Amino acid sequence: MTVAAFRNARALRTYLDSAPFGDKPLGLVPTMGALHEGHGSLIQLAREECGTVIVSLFVNSLQFGPTEDLKNYPRRFDADLLFCERRGVDALFAPSEEEMYPSGTPALVAVGLEAEGLCGASRPGHFQGVATTVLKLFNIVRPDRAYFGEKDMQQLAVISRMARDMNLSVDIVTGPTQRNPDGMAISSRNEYLSTEERQIAAVLYRALRVARQRIGDGDRDPLLPKNAALKVLEFEPLVRVEYVEIVNPEDMQAVNEIAGPVRVAAAIWIGDTRLIDNVLCEPSNKPRRRRK
Ligand code: PAJ
Repeated sequence: MTVAAFRNARALRTYLDSAPFGDKPLGLVPTMGALHEGHGSLIQLAREECGTVIVSLFVNSLQFGPTEDLKNYPRRFDADLLFCERRGVDALFAPSEEEMYPSGTPALVAVGLEAEGLCGASRPGHFQGVATTVLKLFNIVRPDRAYFGEKDMQQLAVISRMARDMNLSVDIVTGPTQRNPDGMAISSRNEYLSTEERQIAAVLYRALRVARQRIGDGDRDPLLPKNAALKVLEFEPLVRVEYVEIVNPEDMQAVNEIAGPVRVAAAIWIGDTRLIDNVLCEPSNKPRRRRK
């Protein structure tokens, strides 16, 4: 099956308005391209649930800071088109910068509490840029369902909040994080890593698992699993820790006590590459005695 590819919103709308989609939902998987099995899993989920699947591919300049990797971000349209074709995507929407942001400074979405802290602290304006572009994509495609990965949990929380607060008629669907055999979350940015850095990078998920284990074993004080994860990360001299936090899965705020499900989230640098990951943790019913 060939994928219909569109560069402009009007042509995509004509296609969507004229195609006989019937009653089955229209699904959108927003991406920045350089597609990998993380994206593939969301496409597969959309394919299972929807009559029509649209993948958007737009390297969104609004969400990159001035010193970030916008220029070097991997772009490979032909490979992405083939990737979509093999997974039964109906249409690819790959707008140009001018198509999305023709008139200089655009109107921006004001994001909520979820955008503060974690990645929001070191990437000011990032989630505003994400939310603005995602809202535009929603308005262009008008999907019934939109698919986002758990790997970018703060992004997911920001978008879910926007959809709720703005009464958007789209269901936000979450897909689980896809990992390499060593546990490292698959990411377009992994290809920036050298062979040596790539081997070290698996430490991030190892550290998160150590924290999850402690929470499962009964730690109530978030400092305990946090410090246990930090200890694992600090053992690697090439790793620079940006943050490790234990947060409420809904609002992304750091918790003072682990009394229900939490997410352990971390961002680290290895050389010039920034990596993020997170795991959901269920506390045990039996509190552990406080350790020094
Ligand atoms: P991008 O990094 O291309 O990711 C697109 C989608 O794929 C996001 O929902 C992300 O969470 C998901 N994803 C990435 N790696 C994954 C993995 N290992 N397992 C499961 N899902 C994974 O996120 C963006 O693009 C942009 O911010 C975007 C939402 C498109 C807005 O510009």
